This record gives sequence, structure tokens and C-alpha cells, in this order.
Amino acid sequence: MDKSIKNKVAFVTGAALGIGRATAILLAKKGARVMLTDINEEEGNKTTSKINDAGGYAKFFKLDVSKRVDIQTVIKKIYATEGSLDLAVNNAGIAGGVGPIHEIPFDVWERMISICLSGVFYCMQEELKCMLPKGFGRIVNVSSLAGVNGLGTAGDYSAAKHGVIGLTKTAALEYGAFNTRVNAVCPGFIQTNIMKDVTQKIQDYITEVRVPMKRVGRPEEVAESIVWLLSDSSSYVNGETLLLDGGFKAG
Ligand code: NAI
Repeated sequence: MDKSIKNKVAFVTGAALGIGRATAILLAKKGARVMLTDINEEEGNKTTSKINDAGGYAKFFKLDVSKRVDIQTVIKKIYATEGSLDLAVNNAGIAGGVGPIHEIPFDVWERMISICLSGVFYCMQEELKCMLPKGFGRIVNVSSLAGVNGLGTAGDYSAAKHGVIGLTKTAALEYGAFNTRVNAVCPGFIQTNIMKDVTQKIQDYITEVRVPMKRVGRPEEVAESIVWLLSDSSSYVNGETLLLDGGFKAG
């Protein structure tokens, strides 16, 4: 158990699978009351049951982060039943990579921005409305290595993830005085369903040539950093964008 996490109400988007799932499980292990949300109801319920079966405290809410009104409804419900919303992980996202900028269809661009950027903005607005009256809040946004670098054939994804960092840094300035810290993690290549869209040839290039550690990351490794940023162990970290890329960007 971690004293700064124990009994805190933690809201996690995209919590059914991958990084969100690993984060929800770790938060529960450290004693948080975890509110899992995702569009994938089946996997979301499975992850929630796994946490509850292990003695944790978890609830699942079906939620599409591109739907602003639904976010308001779910967060209001959580606040009303749990009494607060202390920790938030804005993680839900989809893969990009349909082609160079001049070929990205408008509907693909709009879907990417609505999930990966507007989704984070909508969630932050509602989370902050719960945190500010309590004078306590911790938010971690999941950006990407593509939020600090360009990413060929994924201009939509890279633009959304750069936007997430802009929101994170601005929120750190605006809410730091209110005991509310806002940080971002920037994972490199992590073994989740999103990687299924990366061809084997590119995966081999990444692990053999680009990543000094010669492997992709695990969702549990990202979860550890997210939970650290939510905890008091990172008490003076605010507005940071933490790269979790095995050294990819070092050279
Ligand atoms: P994943 O595909 O395993 O998990 C993503 C989760 O988000 C799924 O449970 C999915 O159902 C949910 N989701 C998708 N659209 C949603 C929506 N509209 N509303 C609510 N939930 C939705 O992928 P992963 O890797 O765990 O991705 C999590 C985050 O990490 C994403 O924001 C992604 O961009 C980011 N990331 C992942 C990297 C990787 O290599 N896996 C690298 C850099 C960033």
C-alpha cells in the first residue's frame, strides 16, 4: 500500500486493456478506489472483476472519451457516489498511421483529434471541477514519443499527442497553486494491442536498431511511472513530460 494513493478515488480512461489496464491494477494494489472507464465493456468488466476478486475496490463505467456529455455524466456520478475524484489518468487512445499528411482523410483526422486530444481536454475539465473545490488533485495524461517527435504517416496522431503536452503544461501552470499537479508520460513502443498495427519489419527495426535496450516496453513499466507521478513520491514534479522509451530519443 502507498499512503498517498490509499483510499484515493482514481479515474482511468481506456482502462480495459493495455497501459490503462496495467495502471488500474497497480492503483488498486496500492489501495486506490479505481473507477475504470472504456468503450470496451467486455474487457472493462473483466479487468474490474480481476481487481475486485483480488480484494481491490473497482467499478466499471462504459465511456467513450470523444463524447463530452457522457464524460460529464460519468464523472458527476462518480463524484456523487464516491465523494471525490482525486487522481486521474487520461489514457484512452487509438493508433494512427494511415499515410502522409496530404492523404489523411478528414474523417480520420477528426476521429483522432476527438479521441486523443478533445477526449483528454473534456476529461480534464470535469476532473478539475472535482479537484479544485477539494484543494487536491493529480492528473497524468498519456501522450507519446510522437508527442515530442514527428511520426511519419501518423501526422494526426502526432498532432493530437503534441496537443496533450500543451494541455498538460498549461494545466500545470494554472493549477499548481491549488495543490493539483498535472504531468504527462510519453511512452515509446509498448507491447499492447496498438502495436498490432505496426508491421513486424518496423518492430524489428525498432528493437534491433532504434531502442538501445533492444526491446519494446511492457504496459506494467508505464503503469509504474504513471502511479509514481500520481503519488507523493513525485511531490515536486509538475508539468513534466516523462519519456518512457528505453532510450530511443537519447540519440
Ligand atoms: P490499447 O489499445 O491496448 O488500449 C487502449 C484502450 O483505450 C483500449 O481499452 C480501448 O478500448 C480504449 N479506447 C479506445 N478508444 C476509446 C474511446 N473513444 N473512449 C474510451 N476508450 C477508448 O493501447 P495502449 O497502448 O494501452 O494505449 C494507451 C495509450 O497509450 C494511448 O493513448 C496510446 O496512444 C498511448 N501510447 C501507446 C504506445 C504503445 O506503443 N502502446 C506508445 C505511445 C503512446
